[in-house]
Amino acid sequence: MAYRLPRVVGHRGAAASAPENTLAGLRRAHQLGVGWVEFDVKLSGDGVPILMHDAMLERTTDGQGAVANTAYAAIRALDAGAWFGPEFAGERVPSFDEAIDLLLSHGLMANVEIKACAGRERETGAAVARRLAERWPQDRPPLLLSSFAEASLDAAREAVPALPRGLLVGKVPPDWRARVEGLGCVSLHCSHRELDAATVSRVREGGYPLLVYTVNEAERAAELFAWGVDCICSDRPEAILPLVV
Ligand code: G3P
Ligand code: MG
Repeated sequence: MAYRLPRVVGHRGAAASAPENTLAGLRRAHQLGVGWVEFDVKLSGDGVPILMHDAMLERTTDGQGAVANTAYAAIRALDAGAWFGPEFAGERVPSFDEAIDLLLSHGLMANVEIKACAGRERETGAAVARRLAERWPQDRPPLLLSSFAEASLDAAREAVPALPRGLLVGKVPPDWRARVEGLGCVSLHCSHRELDAATVSRVREGGYPLLVYTVNEAERAAELFAWGVDCICSDRPEAILPLVV
């Protein structure tokens, strides 16, 4: 049976109303009523899985330099909220472990995007999968991994074969099916920008659910749902939720 994606996922938490990839963002998504969040995980310089989108610290923290060259203790000292708004000052870059704890305490599910620093694709994929195998309770539905990096997906599969995985792409490529099958993925995740109704039909007729990012307007989301898109990943999940209840 095809994997069942949720209808709405909060992108990087709820990135329009709280700083992305922070615990405040995950809490905000929960407050907004969305049951699933997406966030990005990469390794600090000393190998600790953390929530962070960019390779560099500048955009979402008050630090400088490459994440890959910065130890977890130094990343921890940075402010990851003030750039977004003064009410979020003091927010920290969460460890993946902290995010897992918050998901469990709030009853949230997640699409965990493996966003490795260049050259660390396999190491990051394996670390994320192993951490989940250690910390996510066996009696709960497993979290969904995803990545643009096939090496990360392959390493995650090798480390913990049972975890569901989605292949992330921009535009859906002609060989999407071979790639999804080759990696043993359960879903395809693509940008909404170059998508058309015929492509959505092809993917769904191929037996794979489709997650589409990043859609922040209800009108566009309604069009995509009408094409058969299964799941919308949005910075504004509160704008999309009314379409599906
Ligand atoms: O997983 C969907 C989306 O997050 C992929 O793009 O750059 O926002 O991580 P990005
Ligand atoms: Mg992402």
